[in-house]
Amino acid sequence: MNYPMSSNHESFLGRALALARKAWGNTHPNPMVGCVLVENDEIVAEGFHVRAGEPHAEVACLRNLGRSPLPGATLFVTLEPCSTMGRTPPCVEAILGAGIRRVVVGTRDPNPVHAGGGIDLLRDSGVEVIEQEGELAAECADLNLIYNHQIVRNEPFLALKLAVSADGKLAEKPGVASEVTGSEARADVMRWRRLFPAIAVGAGTVIVDDPRLTARLPDGEWCPRRIILDGKLSSVPESKPLPQVYSDEFREKTYVVTAFGSCPRRRAILADAGVPFRELRANAKGGFYLSEWKALCASEGLTGVFCEGGAIVARRLLEERLLDYLFWYESPKRFEHPEAPAAPPLQSFGLHYSRKTELGEDRLIRGHLS
Ligand SMILES: NC(=O)c1ccc[n+]([C@@H]2O[C@H](COP(=O)([O-])OP(=O)(O)OC[C@H]3O[C@@H](n4cnc5c(N)ncnc54)[C@H](OP(=O)(O)O)[C@@H]3O)[C@@H](O)[C@H]2O)c1
Repeated sequence: MNYPMSSNHESFLGRALALARKAWGNTHPNPMVGCVLVENDEIVAEGFHVRAGEPHAEVACLRNLGRSPLPGATLFVTLEPCSTMGRTPPCVEAILGAGIRRVVVGTRDPNPVHAGGGIDLLRDSGVEVIEQEGELAAECADLNLIYNHQIVRNEPFLALKLAVSADGKLAEKPGVASEVTGSEARADVMRWRRLFPAIAVGAGTVIVDDPRLTARLPDGEWCPRRIILDGKLSSVPESKPLPQVYSDEFREKTYVVTAFGSCPRRRAILADAGVPFRELRANAKGGFYLSEWKALCASEGLTGVFCEGGAIVARRLLEERLLDYLFWYESPKRFEHPEAPAAPPLQSFGLHYSRKTELGEDRLIRGHLS
């Protein structure tokens, strides 16, 4: 018997997407996934993947139902169900075992181990699989920016975030902490900080801005892994109080990447403060190769890094073609000081699949780099 497709189709998948987002930033290295089960045009069970090692969304949803689905039930899931044994049994098996005959999939899993395999297995077993198209499908894929990249390339997803004035500046003048964007854009940055497992900045940004680099959200403050790129340890003062990233309650979540042979006194100060460091081969300029830092992140299992500048780090990452994604917050302010640090021009990034969001007086342009 065929059951008609609901006119609420998109709202059911939209609800699954909202459920997936409840695990924002908590599922690495796994994707965020949400799921609802619909019977007679009503959601009767919901589930989402809470964190790696816990049940996948489909299994959570079926468990929450607590009985067998009715004939004609449709499962809506934001990501193609997995088809191989991981830390948990494959979801395709759970779906078939529950007798579900129709599944709506938000987007295919780019993981080469699954990619289309889950959908094929379901179809081969007689299940009707409807693949979502259009903006909602794009949103389901966009939800897992970090996972989508890391699982295909087996390297961390490196995203650069810059807040830029209308005249292309990153700060009002040299050596001064500046507010480039307004409160809505800054709140948006907090949300992205909460998504990424790590944030990186250069020594210059620590010296000038003394940033906290935490995600300050309505439900509390969260600290990712904080990485300071500092070849000569110039961000470690010898006769002044230490910057926040080396002295606050989260200091053990900070590490400094430095070059072999950098200042022993400053290393000792870091060690006394309980801040670890990593050493990389020194290059001719007394710094280290950012490509080797990226490889270090991969070897430590970091799936994504939100790089927050400043100007020198942004340029080097761009020149060395190490960036995968750009978050470009554009402000209407103008900073006309002739020595204000400048961002590389937006056109130099070669953005594609970009999205624009208005955030009060500012706007965010974000997208993949070619
Ligand atoms: N608007 C924004 O989005 C934004 C974001 C961040 C910062 N900012 C602003 O940007 C300014 C700071 O930028 P900046 O260009 O002066 O500094 P920066 O990019 O934060 O840091 C540059 C320094 O980091 C170290 N470093 C970076 N890459 C390295 C490598 N591969 N090897 C070794 N060391 C490396 C070097 O320190 P050594 O020279 O000591 O070796 C380098 O001078 C501030 O005004 C800040 O307010 C704006």
